[in-house]
Formats: sequence, structure tokens, C-alpha cells
Amino acid sequence: MKKVITYGTFDLFHEGHYNLLKHAKELGDYLIVGITTEQYDQTRGKLNVHDSLITRIDNVRASGFVDEVVVEDHVGQKIEDVKRFNVQVFTVGSDWTGKFDYMKEYCDVVYIPRTKNVSSTQKRIDANPIIRLGLIGTGRIAGRFPLECKAVSGINIVGAYNPHGDHAEQFADKHEFEFGTNNIEEFFENVDAVYIATPHETHYEYAKQALEHGKHVLCEKPMVLKEAHAVELYDLAKKNNLVLMEAIKTAYCPGFNQLITVAKSGIIGDVIDVEAAFSRIIDDRNSREFSNENYGGSFLEYGTYTLLPALKLLGKNYDDITFNCIKANNGVDIYTKAQLKYPRGMATSKTGVAVKTEGQMVVAGTKGYILAPSPWWLTKNFEVRYEDSTKIDSYSATFLGSGLRYEIAEFVKAIGGDGNKTFQFTRGESVAMAGVMERFLRDQRMNQNEV
Ligand code: CTP
Repeated sequence: MKKVITYGTFDLFHEGHYNLLKHAKELGDYLIVGITTEQYDQTRGKLNVHDSLITRIDNVRASGFVDEVVVEDHVGQKIEDVKRFNVQVFTVGSDWTGKFDYMKEYCDVVYIPRTKNVSSTQKRIDANPIIRLGLIGTGRIAGRFPLECKAVSGINIVGAYNPHGDHAEQFADKHEFEFGTNNIEEFFENVDAVYIATPHETHYEYAKQALEHGKHVLCEKPMVLKEAHAVELYDLAKKNNLVLMEAIKTAYCPGFNQLITVAKSGIIGDVIDVEAAFSRIIDDRNSREFSNENYGGSFLEYGTYTLLPALKLLGKNYDDITFNCIKANNGVDIYTKAQLKYPRGMATSKTGVAVKTEGQMVVAGTKGYILAPSPWWLTKNFEVRYEDSTKIDSYSATFLGSGLRYEIAEFVKAIGGDGNKTFQFTRGESVAMAGVMERFLRDQRMNQNEV
């Protein structure tokens, strides 16, 4: 029996896929199709696959040409599969011509002519017109965004807003946007969605205005500094059928998501303690982090990262939270240790802007622990360790660019989807995060003005 194998994502199953499978089956007697997992696609930089793995498998099977389906989840699997199934022919579409010649060492390689004028990418574009995104704020954080946005299809930055018009125009020129403006009405008229990258205390007003203007919102962290504001914004987004997402990049990254699933799988038993640290010595003492007496400091800057694993693994309903801070003369915290108490667990968050500590995360459980080394928030690898110190399970994941592309991809997906929601960082978690920020400000900034 002559076995043939082919691979693909087979997203939004189309005529090109059908023809490819038909042709592939004709090359032998038995056709095996390898279908990629979402995670594997992410590591390959394919960030906006629409259909779930199950749907894609069902669609491939429904073509009627397929004898067996395998799931492809890692580099090198193609060679393994060819050997394991004793395959004689490896085939893919002609867009890959030459790319799989290395398989000739193991079997015949056939490139099937690709069907013209159809692709999943085109179908995704047709189904969801390209999102016209505008940036609110053109400072340090916004500067990293354009490059990352280019890695995600379905979204295009068209303009920038800054109350200082010349800043907006300069930024727009530099990044080749269509426009830069200090006129917020004009800005909203020309975009479908916004990314808010302004100082923390201005997020709420901008997000509210954007949602009132019918725009989807991706907002830098901490999104807001009061729980009630978060509830209000999510309600407003829901009412207007818009997406509102808090841009905590770690929450959307493949490695971090894998770490959370591993922790939740029970492999380390019950999760009891989550410790995470993030520190960066910021030399410029005139920067916002030091000079803004009300909203500067390490906790507002980095606390969303260090609390993220605690909220994910121990939940939103902690019994108590305490903050211990070392402060500069102006009252801004240069180092903060926040401790959360849960009915059967605890968490520690350490953040610093003028104190350096090891930036690692440890998740302790009743059967073992997870160690993610610094910089754990750009999760590339982690280990599961046990009482038996000779037994260590290592995990690694791809982390592309500066990682913002993952939250952008999720934003695009949520806008195109029907549920308008993400599981990677939920409304409930975002509201709880705002609650922690509110509590911090109440406890630690006695002279603070109304948020
Ligand atoms: N294919 C084809 N003709 C097309 C589109 C795809 O023959 N018009 C083939 C590919 O060459 C590959 C298989 O179908 O062998 C699965 O491809 P996949 O990447 O899933 O489909 P695309 O439509 O190319 O997806 P995308 O646009 O996301 O890259």
C-alpha cells in the first residue's frame, strides 16, 4: 500500500485545500493529513488562525479523501511521521516548492500545483475587513507597537493622536501612518479601534471616549485604577458590542499560557504559592516612574505583570492584600512587596524601579513546583521540578519579537469573533486587577488626588 502524507493548517477550509487533498490522494492508496495545533501555528508566526483544531480536522475529514489525521505540534515532526507511518510520498502545494526537498532523504517529495486566487489569508481578510487602528499617545510605549503590529495580519495602524499635535504628526511621519492629529473627534472619525498608550491615570477617560465613539479598545496596563471604572468600561463595551482588552502582554504569550495550563493540569498538585518579581533600575530620575508623585512608582508600573500569575492560578477572590513599600522622598515606591492571602494559598509580587532583584517566577504546589527564570514575563522556558531533584521536566516555547504581537493578534481575533471575549485575560481578572490598583493607591498614596 502506497502511503501519502501532507500537512497544513486548513483554516477556513476552501477549494484550494479540497483540490490539494484530492490530488494528494491520487498519488497513492492511503492519505495521512497532518493538521497543525494553534500553538504550533503561533510559534511559526501564524497568529490569527480562525477555526479551532477540531473544526479544521472535521473539515479535512469531510473532504472524503483522508484516511488518517495526525496533529502536528512541533518542528521535526514531519520526518518522524514519515518514518513512523512508513510513508512513500510527502506532498504539499507548489507555494512550498523547494522548501521540503530535505524530505527526499526519507521518501518521494511532490509539489502539487496550488489552486489560484484562493487562500485562508484572503478569506480571513474578506470575512473581516482590515481593522484601522489609531494610537492614543505617542511616547515610549507606543514606539514599540508599529513594528509588532506589522507581524499580525488583519490590522493596520492608520493614525496617531496626541494632545500636542506636532508630536502626533512627527510620530505619524516616522512610522508612515496616514495621519497624526491633536483633534480627538477627527481621530475617532478615521479609526475602527484604538490602542491607548498614555500615562496610567488618563486611560479611563480615553477608553470611555473611545467606547462611546463606537471604537474597540486595547488599553495599556494598568487599564484603570478603580474597580468601578473597569466595570463601567466593560459594561459600556458590552452594550456597544465592542472589544475592550487590557494589554498585559505576558497574558497573551504562548509560553506563559503553556505554563498556566501545566500548573492547572495537576502535575504539581494543588497550587499553594505564587511568587513573581519584576524590577528594572530606571536611571532617568525625571521619568514618569519617579516624578509622578500620584501615579509613578514600581507597583503601578509593573504590578500587573507580577499579579497576573496569582490571579490566573489562585483566582480573583483573595481574602486580603498587604503592601510593603520602600519609598523615595516624594512618596513614590521604588520597591514594593505585595502579599495576597487566599483561603488555601498565598502570592507575593515584587516590583522595583530603583532596586534590582531576580526576575523569576515560582509556583509552588503540593507535588512539585514550576520555576520560570528571568525574564519570566517574556516566557520562553520553564521547568517543573519535584522532591526528587533528579527529575526535571523542561518546557520551551517561542516568543517572537517583543511579544506585543500576541496581544494584538488576540485583539484582532476578538474583534472578528462572535463572543468578543478572550480567555487569556478575562473581564473578571481585569476588574480584579483594577481593584488591586485602587487598594494600593488608597493604602500607599495618602495625599493622592481623586483618580
Ligand atoms: N493550498 C493549495 N492551494 C491554495 C491554498 C493552499 O494547494 N490556494 C495548499 C497549500 O500549499 C498546503 C495546503 O493547501 O499544501 C494547506 O495550506 P494552508 O497553509 O493551510 O492554506 P493557505 O490557504 O495557504 O493558508 P494561509 O493563507 O493561512 O497561509
